[in-house]
Amino acid sequence: MPKTACIETFGCQMNVHDSERMAGLLEQAGYEIVHDVDIADLVILNTCSVREKAEEKLFSRLGEIRKSTAKHKGMPLVAVTGCVAQQEGDAIITRAGMVDVVVGTQALRRLPVLVSEAEHSGQPQVDTNPYDDVSFPLGIAVRHDPVKAYVTIIEGCNDYCAFCVVPYTRGHERMRPVEEVVREVKQAADTGHSEIHLLGQIVNHYHAPDDPGCDFASLLHRVHAVRGVKRIRFASPHPRHVTQAMLEAIRDLTKVCKHLHLPVQSGATAILTRMRRRHTREDYLDLVERVRNIIPDVTLSTDIIVGFPGESQQHFEETVSLTERVRYHSMFSFKYSERPNTLARFRMADTVPAEEKSRRLAVLQQVQMDIQSRLLMEYVGRTVDVLVDSKSRRRSNEVSGRTTGNTVVNFTGQPEWIGQMVPVRVCRAGPNSLWGEAQRTCQ
Ligand code: 5AD
Repeated sequence: MPKTACIETFGCQMNVHDSERMAGLLEQAGYEIVHDVDIADLVILNTCSVREKAEEKLFSRLGEIRKSTAKHKGMPLVAVTGCVAQQEGDAIITRAGMVDVVVGTQALRRLPVLVSEAEHSGQPQVDTNPYDDVSFPLGIAVRHDPVKAYVTIIEGCNDYCAFCVVPYTRGHERMRPVEEVVREVKQAADTGHSEIHLLGQIVNHYHAPDDPGCDFASLLHRVHAVRGVKRIRFASPHPRHVTQAMLEAIRDLTKVCKHLHLPVQSGATAILTRMRRRHTREDYLDLVERVRNIIPDVTLSTDIIVGFPGESQQHFEETVSLTERVRYHSMFSFKYSERPNTLARFRMADTVPAEEKSRRLAVLQQVQMDIQSRLLMEYVGRTVDVLVDSKSRRRSNEVSGRTTGNTVVNFTGQPEWIGQMVPVRVCRAGPNSLWGEAQRTCQ
């Protein structure tokens, strides 16, 4: 009987993709991937440490696994990978007492070897070396999603925003060769993945190490030319690196989705300066205007942190007013939490009390909810193209997909439609998604 491995993923798309790569490596090493820790010989927790809450999840999940597996087949081998692994290293073994392997973000490829060493020696194995290597053998990642394929174009980050742990967990910025990226896109398209998601911490900072003339805009053109690709998305761009050529590529290339995630983090220049974002409120608002002039039908989304050190009520109100001015289609908003190694942690006192952070978050989320509910109402009566990506979890005769602007649309349809583009007439809008009727059966 083959050994079984269960991978649980926390955090961002980069982590989801790392898990796909680990699944492939483990299958090559003879493991069968299962989705239940209770029947697994090996459990992998692929962790996130971008915010405090995400990090706490590792230790509470380890406790649950210990309890639950004790009732079944006994303790499996446990490996911790990802950003908490990179950050804490050996300390995880000491604190948790039940972890056999710790693999940092750059040592992913050594997972099967380390697992085998831990198994045979009975000794915990840790590798958090910065290997710097961005190559990954083609065809190994096991893509679980039938429609979406994540393709990494940049690893790591050199920006050192004051709040952000990423440069410390994922290392400095490294670009993948464009030829490798295009080869991977072709391979994903050949296996039926029609929606390509290009990934990088600052995805629009891309310049090809193997082609000096190739920047992010040129890369979009290269990916657009790949047969079988229906849609292209990317995450996450930095406002500072948005170029004219990039905006024109989004406008002109039909497969590139008309959606831009532009993390602003705060609406107050004083806070943006303290955050080391290197743009002001005015720069950002000018950019939004430029984006909308060039791509009139674009939808925008953002990330915002409330309660950053030194954020006054007035600074917060500037964030609310920026939100009202921009009118985002969606927003991810967070309470500031201190992260290890960051500038904010070392140099800035966490001045905003926890209750005040919660209050500001609730106010901002209400403002955003009203805005996006109104924006989604505007779709009622219109017909939109939806790329179907999943069956509904609640109703067996419903499917769901996204518009080019990244809004979720639910409608009656068959599972065979997954991967197809369907025109849908919108008849109802909620605060987060739309409902409609397919206008014809799929081609
Ligand atoms: N506290 C709160 N939110 C954070 N983010 C990153 N670091 C922190 C932190 N220390 C948020 C930012 C970022 C998103 C991925 O997570 O908004 O864009």
